[in-house]
Amino acid sequence: MNSLRTHALHLAIIMDGNGRWAALRGQPRSAGHRRGAENVRAIVRAAAELRVGTLTLYAFSADNWQRPSVEVAALMRLFEDYLKKETAECAQQGIRISVIGRRDRLSPALRDVIEAAELDTADGRRLHLRLAVDYSAREAIFRAACRFYKATRVSRESFEELLGEVTHGAAPDLDLLIRTGGEQRLSDFLLWEAAYAELYFTPKMWPDFTAADLAIALAEYRARDRRFGRVPEAVAS
Ligand code: FPP
Repeated sequence: MNSLRTHALHLAIIMDGNGRWAALRGQPRSAGHRRGAENVRAIVRAAAELRVGTLTLYAFSADNWQRPSVEVAALMRLFEDYLKKETAECAQQGIRISVIGRRDRLSPALRDVIEAAELDTADGRRLHLRLAVDYSAREAIFRAACRFYKATRVSRESFEELLGEVTHGAAPDLDLLIRTGGEQRLSDFLLWEAAYAELYFTPKMWPDFTAADLAIALAEYRARDRRFGRVPEAVAS
């Protein structure tokens, strides 16, 4: 993971605001999540069109287990349905699916669907879609550190390999992090990978965030001056 950009763009999104989107319409939170899942489909297609290389979506944090059990069950069903419905088309479109996070607390049925989706899309080279489910960046860093403690090879690269192992998948450094829903925080998402990420916050609720909004965010990102701790070129020369 080099801090200078040598990889295709890695975009991550914290898809916040499903619950408020539903409440504003007098609907249950699960209706917001359903619309949110439909939007995942649209934004994944848009990201591929916009030449994003890796897209990491925060679908369920380790702390989300604390939500009411009916909401958790509805979300787990949505993940399973999404993977069942989308895998074939993703494979056809060159979209590789990975799921990052812990697997041991997921149902065996969901684990099976995840494994099938990963296997069936493994050859995809157009876009790497990573869904973060039961994910906690702090926990991942801690678990990698525990393994690192016992490792014989001690380097930053080997630590990052371990970090990839404990979350079921390594990724390049994050370039841009978008959070919808108006809040401005990281919520335990990709804390290591986001060291030099550009941050973009939008008040739009996730179900309302469109492909056009994504294009605007990417255009703003591309206009930013990423210096990675250096001085601007004009000053250095
Ligand atoms: C945060 O909004 C959203 C989540 C915790 C779940 C994200 C899930 C989806 C977008 C749908 C399913 C995803 C896939 C990959 C199929 P919130 O519920 O915290 O909203 P609020 O802040 O308005 O209450």
